[in-house]
Amino acid sequence: MYLPVGRIVAGGLIFLLFASRAAAIDLIIDDEQSLRDAASTTTFAMMTYYHGNETGQIPGAFPSKWWEGSALFLALLHYWHFTGDTTYNNELRVGLEWQSGKNGDYMPSNYSSYLGNDDQMFWGLAAMTAAELKFGDGVFNTQIKRWDTTACNGGMRWQIWPYQSGYTLKNSISNGGLFQLAARLARYTNEPIYATWANKIWNWSLSSPLLNSSTWNVADSTNMGDNCATQGNTQWSYNYGTYMMGAAYMYSYTNGSAQWLTAVDGLMNKLFEEFFPSSNGGIFEEVTCEPSEQCNNNEVLFKGLVSTWLSFTALLVPSTYDKILPKLQTSAVAAAKSCTGHNNNTCGVRWYQSQYDGWIGMEEQISATDLFVANMIRFTGNSTGPVTATTGGNSTSNPTAGENDTSTASIPVSAITTGDRAGAGILTVLFTAGWFGLMGFTVLGG
Ligand SMILES: *[C@@H]1O[C@H](CO)[C@@H](O)[C@H](O)[C@H]1NC(C)=O
Ligand SMILES: *[C@@H]1O[C@H](CO)[C@@H](O)[C@H](O)[C@H]1NC(C)=O
Ligand SMILES: *[C@@H]1O[C@H](CO)[C@@H](O)[C@H](O)[C@H]1NC(C)=O
Ligand SMILES: *[C@@H]1O[C@H](CO)[C@@H](O)[C@H](O)[C@H]1NC(C)=O
Ligand SMILES: *[C@@H]1O[C@H](CO)[C@@H](O)[C@H](O)[C@H]1NC(C)=O
Ligand SMILES: *[C@@H]1O[C@H](CO)[C@@H](O)[C@H](O)[C@H]1NC(C)=O
Ligand SMILES: *[C@@H]1O[C@H](CO)[C@@H](O)[C@H](O)[C@H]1NC(C)=O
Ligand SMILES: *[C@@H]1O[C@H](CO)[C@@H](O)[C@H](O)[C@H]1NC(C)=O
Ligand SMILES: *[C@@H]1O[C@H](CO)[C@@H](O)[C@H](O)[C@H]1NC(C)=O
Repeated sequence: MYLPVGRIVAGGLIFLLFASRAAAIDLIIDDEQSLRDAASTTTFAMMTYYHGNETGQIPGAFPSKWWEGSALFLALLHYWHFTGDTTYNNELRVGLEWQSGKNGDYMPSNYSSYLGNDDQMFWGLAAMTAAELKFGDGVFNTQIKRWDTTACNGGMRWQIWPYQSGYTLKNSISNGGLFQLAARLARYTNEPIYATWANKIWNWSLSSPLLNSSTWNVADSTNMGDNCATQGNTQWSYNYGTYMMGAAYMYSYTNGSAQWLTAVDGLMNKLFEEFFPSSNGGIFEEVTCEPSEQCNNNEVLFKGLVSTWLSFTALLVPSTYDKILPKLQTSAVAAAKSCTGHNNNTCGVRWYQSQYDGWIGMEEQISATDLFVANMIRFTGNSTGPVTATTGGNSTSNPTAGENDTSTASIPVSAITTGDRAGAGILTVLFTAGWFGLMGFTVLGG
């Protein structure tokens, strides 16, 4: 993930000026239209930060924070899918395709020299989601080739290149993210090879200090210098969320295995306990950075990502639904009250304050959008969950995409019709998926 970028924090003054007479999102959580309106408002503000569709601009490009584009497109995908509003589908389609790069592996050359494994992985998740929600175009691989056995008996490094700081760390988001992607591919394609990889990454995570299946603690990182004997235990919601999401997909893939149910429940309960503190009304809070107002751009996005992952978990693992929905609802009601800045519904960061807190940015808008949209599962129902290739996913897997990072092979592009909610007209979804099949599993250390 890209290094923290300074953010604009307008302090108490702006708060005083605007909070008392701010426009409000009047969210009635039980009312579907009210929720749609809230999501529409925050999405509109979110898109004011996007210029990739303007003349002379590059679709999907966020020069200093490339990975955040994936968060924006994920939010747009969910927004379109759960509300049916197609307003931004053109931006979505063009941006997702443009950034996939020449090899369809989300390593576009403009950024590839400083990417982290986690950065690329998030674009892979966006593409995966596009497939599952029947939008189009997808990507997986190149990452498996970076499974690293030089220390700690396996695992993904944080960074790709030796000159990047973080190269000697193995971290939860890179490993938990790839676990999630493998689990989603397993479910989507029903190809056991992805399940094997998901199990392998999960097993390795348990064997490392990153993931503990008795406490369900998820640490942030571990250092290769001491062969991953120690952990950096900073607590971030997305580390829990990504392992939980992957476990939910494995639960679905395995048709309800007890092992994965235990994992989903364990991680979900720990997530709730820690990041939805009852002392703050059970409202979602990024507890490491919000109280001190030290959140960077990345960290502001975590709650949004995790809100989405919670909603998908509720759909994939029905027994969690009644635990997850109330948490999403309580948080959405509070977040709506935080979206009262600048007389134009600017959303803040600390939802639990139930009023605007002076923060402003694209990331705040993305997270609020994600949260409102996550609440839509209540109305759009369980049938709107992610599809698989056999339950309506209209896609084919491209077994060679991403095989050669340097190849100049062009990729087929999907043709998505604006307005295509039901899945008609979707053409090809690429998965950089079948790499193992070609190269042989043994090469990968499996
Ligand atoms: C809301 O107002 C703020 C402050 O003027 C501005 O920076 C922001 O772009 C506005 N947002 C929208 C959606 O107009
Ligand atoms: C770019 O997209 C925004 C919506 O986010 C839209 O309002 C604007 O008109 C678009 N601009 C162009 C040049 O298409
Ligand atoms: C890479 O940069 C070039 C030159 O600015 C631009 O034309 C191209 O669209 C960029 N590609 C991506 C994927 O951002
Ligand atoms: C993961 O660990 C389980 C339990 O120890 C074992 O049965 C399974 O074979 C392992 N899977 C992989 C892919 O390593
Ligand atoms: C899990 O955490 C508990 C409590 O901190 C600790 O005793 C145990 O050794 C940990 N398990 C692993 C496999 O690290
Ligand atoms: C789950 O059930 C489906 C339908 O019965 C079956 O095709 C599939 O092989 C099962 N998956 C696993 C991993 O057992
Ligand atoms: C979805 O499934 C959950 C759990 O089975 C259930 O509680 C909920 O009412 C369902 N929602 C809809 C809209 O059908
Ligand atoms: C990858 O490179 C190998 C060796 O040059 C070549 O045979 C293969 O066709 C390439 N694959 C793709 C997808 O370009
Ligand atoms: C996708 O579905 C549409 C209609 O549902 C169909 O016409 C089209 O051939 C399908 N495409 C693929 C690649 O399966």
